[in-house]
This record gives sequence, structure tokens and C-alpha cells, in this order.
Amino acid sequence: MALMLTSVPGTNDVFAQSKEYPFREPVFRYITQTAEQVLRSSGAQMIHTPVFEYAEVLQKGVGVTSDIVVKKEMYTFEDRGGRVLGLRPEPTASIVRAYNQHGMKVWPQPVRLFTWGPIFRAERHQKGRYKQFHQVDYEALGSADPLIDAEAIALMVQVYRALGLKGLEVKLGSVGDPEDRVRYNDYLRGLFRPYAQELSEDSRVRLESNPMRILDSKSEADQRIVAEAGVRPMLEFLGPEARGFHEKVAGYLEKLGVPFTLDPSIVRGLDYYVRTAWEVHHSRIGAKSALGGGGRYDGLSEMLGGPRVPGVGWGIGIERVAIALEQEGVEIPADPVPDLYLVPLDEGAKLEALQIAQRLRPAFRVEMAYAPKSARKGLEDALKRGARFVGLLGEAERARGVVTLKHLETGDQREVSWEALGEALGPVPGVRL
Ligand code: HAM
Repeated sequence: MALMLTSVPGTNDVFAQSKEYPFREPVFRYITQTAEQVLRSSGAQMIHTPVFEYAEVLQKGVGVTSDIVVKKEMYTFEDRGGRVLGLRPEPTASIVRAYNQHGMKVWPQPVRLFTWGPIFRAERHQKGRYKQFHQVDYEALGSADPLIDAEAIALMVQVYRALGLKGLEVKLGSVGDPEDRVRYNDYLRGLFRPYAQELSEDSRVRLESNPMRILDSKSEADQRIVAEAGVRPMLEFLGPEARGFHEKVAGYLEKLGVPFTLDPSIVRGLDYYVRTAWEVHHSRIGAKSALGGGGRYDGLSEMLGGPRVPGVGWGIGIERVAIALEQEGVEIPADPVPDLYLVPLDEGAKLEALQIAQRLRPAFRVEMAYAPKSARKGLEDALKRGARFVGLLGEAERARGVVTLKHLETGDQREVSWEALGEALGPVPGVRL
């Protein structure tokens, strides 16, 4: 017998009965639907971009010094036409590309878009970190007003709150303007050069290319050096404009009643950020795995060959949110139960059962047994599924065009003609087509 093939480690099947909580489909649906509700209430529109793009779009987006590029975390491949393509390691660059490609600059600004879907990073997988994971993503393009940053953060917090999460911490910082970063990086180079031999290999490379990234290195040796070196935070290096912008964002958040803490040393993993940068952490998941993060990226559109388009946005890790929901014991709404479970009592009733089911769907949730069963077994199965009614269909019922309909909670039982079934089942809660 051939070896049974399996999925790639670090990728996961998402389905209702999954043994691992983050991959239960109702949990996924709860998160994406809740986020969608909150974001649509703000007037943001949904967008779907392809999961693969020219690698150039994705690489220019995240930047040459990001982990995604430095550590070769992007899945790239050549198609038959010799085009170099990549699976998206984040959705922001694709959304900015779409904004430019479809001329959204002439729409009323800002254009606010959101999406959710799979994201791919060739990282070493562990709990909460996967090679294929999912994000909800929100982007506001075309405005350089700090109010838009505050709204983005407020909406993100609203999503977490609507999900029922409590133990959250929003850490707000600023990565400054590019010229501020040049000064900060020069300072960091001077500070870390004496430690060059002790730094991890990745950080030695970063010492020249982007020393800020040494600050959030996961290596213990690097962390010790960072602690020992007495690093001054980025916030102290902000120029007057970036500082004023940062203070406005913080002020707006206070007035909006969005709780946050100032994190003067926040460093994000992607190169495109300027000014506002933040991460959301959860008390029980630990400091190293953020539930989400975001920031402003005013130069990204130009990096992709477009006009200058300021933008700000965020991404929420769906699996990480699911882990947090499980740890907080937040109850996920149960899927609705079947209105009717139809049981053919003999071979000849199978097709009729399906015909009845099809007539009642989609106004009603109708399931059926696909092989004949005894009335007793059919009843047992209906109870297991939590159905409201069971409908028995045997030879006698067929002859008279009826179903024996039993309400499982009250035990009431009567014969109902096929035409009157809808009426007998209803009214049920929820929208009817
Ligand atoms: P990011 O911080 O790289 O930002 O990712 C956002 C969130 O995705 C993280 O906070 C985390 O919850 C989740 N995440 C990241 N990597 C993994 C992984 N390997 N497995 C599971 N979850 C993961 C971005 O991607 C930016 N595009 C956010 C943004 C949008 N900035 C501006 N607009």
C-alpha cells in the first residue's frame, strides 16, 4: 500500500471537528464575520487580491532588509512563462498595487479597504506560527491625516472587543520619518559595533543593513546585548514633524477612549513603515507573538512605481486570535441546528426524501439520512444532530403524500402533507429567502 499523503507541516486543514482549536471552522468564521461586521459598519469595502503576484511587488513591499526577504521566507517560483512569482507574505503591497492599478486615487479619499485570507511565510512552525496562516487586513489609502491612524487603531480594537477578547495591550510607537531612521540607525551601528562578534549571524548582517531590527531579534544572545548596551529608544530620535504626528495620534486615541501604552522602542518587521507603528499583544500569549500589528506606509506606493499615496493599516492573525479566544474561554456561537432531519424508511423513499429536502432548502436547514433506517434509529440520529423535527418517510407515507413529522422537544407527532411541510416547520428565526 502506498504511503498515505499528508499536508505540509506548518499548514493546516480548517474544519469544524479539527482537534486543534485555531483550525476549527466555526471559530474562523466567527472571527472573520465579526471583523467584517465591524469594518463594514465603518464603510470600509472588501477587496480580494490574488494570493500570488509578481515577486517584485511583494519584495519591494516588505523591503530588502525584512525577515521575509533576508531569511527567504517568501515562497517564490517561476511559472512556465519564466515569470518570477511569489505567494503573498502579507496583503498590504497587493492592496496598494490594486489601488494604483485601478486608479483609486481619483476616488474620494481615503479609500478604505479590507480583506481576509491566507498568507504564506516559510517560517519555522510552532504553535501560533505557521507557514500558511490567515489574516484579517485593513488599509486606509490616500490620507496623511493622523486621525486616519487613530481610526485604524480604534477599529482594530473594536474588532477584538466585538470578538469578546479582554486581555489586550495596544503598544503604540513611531518609527519616524526615513531621515529620523537614518540618524537612529547610525546611532545603533555605533552602539552595536563593539559587540559585532557576539551578535547572531542575522544581526551581524542587520548591523549594516537595518540595525533597528537587532532590537527585536529573537536570539537570546542578541537580546542580552540589547539589554546591556542601554539602547535609547527610537522615539527620542523623532524629528519635529514625526513627533508632532505621533502626539496627535496618541491624543486622538485618548479622546476616543482607546486604551494603549506608549512603546518607545517598537520595531516592526516590515521595511515600509514610517511614523505610526503599533502592535497588539495578549497577556496570556506572551510578548513574542502579537495578535496583530500595523502602521503607516506613506512611501510604499512609490516603491511600487505608483504616485505618492499615504496609507495606514493593520493585520490581525486569525489563528493567534483563535488561540486567545480559547485561552479566555470566550464562547463561540454554535452553528444552527437542522430544522428537519428526514429519514427514508425504505429504499424507495430515498429520492423522495431528497426531493422534499431540496424544495425546503434554503429556506430551511434540512438534512437527511442517505440510506434507509428504522424509525427508531432515525430518531436517534435526529436527536444526535440536535434537529428540531424528524420526518419519517416510508411506503405508507409515500402512498398518501405525507411525512410523519415529530417535534423532538415536545414529542408531538402528526402527518403533514408534503406541500404543508414549510408551514409546519416555521416560523424559524433568521432571514428567509
Ligand atoms: P505582521 O505584523 O507581519 O504585519 O503580521 C500581522 C499579524 O499576522 C501578526 O501580528 C500575527 O498575529 C500574524 N502572523 C504573522 N506571522 C504569522 C505566522 N507565521 N503564523 C501565524 N500568524 C502570523 C503585516 O503583515 C502587515 N501587512 C500589517 C499591515 C497592514 N501594516 C499595514 N497594513
